[in-house]
Amino acid sequence: MKTSTDFKKMKEANEKIAMITAYDAPSAKLVEQAGVDMILVGDSLGMVVLGYDSTVPVTLEDMILHTKAVKRGAKQTFIVTDMPFLTYHSSISETMNNAKRLMQEGGAHAVKVEGNGEVIQTIEMLTKAGVPVVAHLGLTPQSVGVLGGYKVQGKDKESANELIEDANKVERAGAIALVLECVPKQLGEYISKQLSIPVIGIGAGADTDGQVLVYHDVIGYGGEFVPKFVKKYANISPVIQEAVSDYVSEVKNKQFPEDKHTFTMNEEHLAHLYG
Ligand code: KIV
Ligand code: NA
Repeated sequence: MKTSTDFKKMKEANEKIAMITAYDAPSAKLVEQAGVDMILVGDSLGMVVLGYDSTVPVTLEDMILHTKAVKRGAKQTFIVTDMPFLTYHSSISETMNNAKRLMQEGGAHAVKVEGNGEVIQTIEMLTKAGVPVVAHLGLTPQSVGVLGGYKVQGKDKESANELIEDANKVERAGAIALVLECVPKQLGEYISKQLSIPVIGIGAGADTDGQVLVYHDVIGYGGEFVPKFVKKYANISPVIQEAVSDYVSEVKNKQFPEDKHTFTMNEEHLAHLYG
């Protein structure tokens, strides 16, 4: 299994890091077999699996449950789990306990936290306590209510400078990597060059140290809205729909099940059934 040391070496060797989300055992197994370097149990879970319209309703229990499932499916891959909305803000002891549960009960190798300011001190405290932390800057979906929508971040000089400063701070705080979401590619490149920790981009251009995408977006499963930064490598929704509608019509037309799907009983026992 690759670890944070390997990810840093990959950055130094200019070898790109491929990260993708997973939320259950079969998807985790498939992405591991496909050779991803890192799995993110993202709180995008809330939208792509649980049917909420943001990541805000996702709970720690949700993240533990799904991390456990991912862990069972992918035993050889580094797993990062999102700390969900307001589970790392109220007190350091609560934050520590929540991170502990994601690692001990869920089996995560690292946790991810969104934001700057006090969150950066939280990164430092978690790191000092032995918790590997991935930072998340730029578009931070848990703050969608404050940001006023899902928008590109760091487009002007002031906000770009702030992001560069925050990126440097999360590195100094001990983060093992930085997820940088939805920023101009020039900023993605600049921050990746500035930092010695890997910068994993999503909508941050081609010059970050790696990329992360949501599993459901990559395979075209579910969701109608696809952000600009997504590349759909497959379109499995219609495949599923066709399979299930074939099943439904074969049941209704009495074409399924066939003999080959059916169990039989020996003649001698049959008499008892019909007397
Ligand atoms: O929750 C998630 O899937 C994420 C990625 C999009 C970075 O945080
Ligand atoms: Na997330």
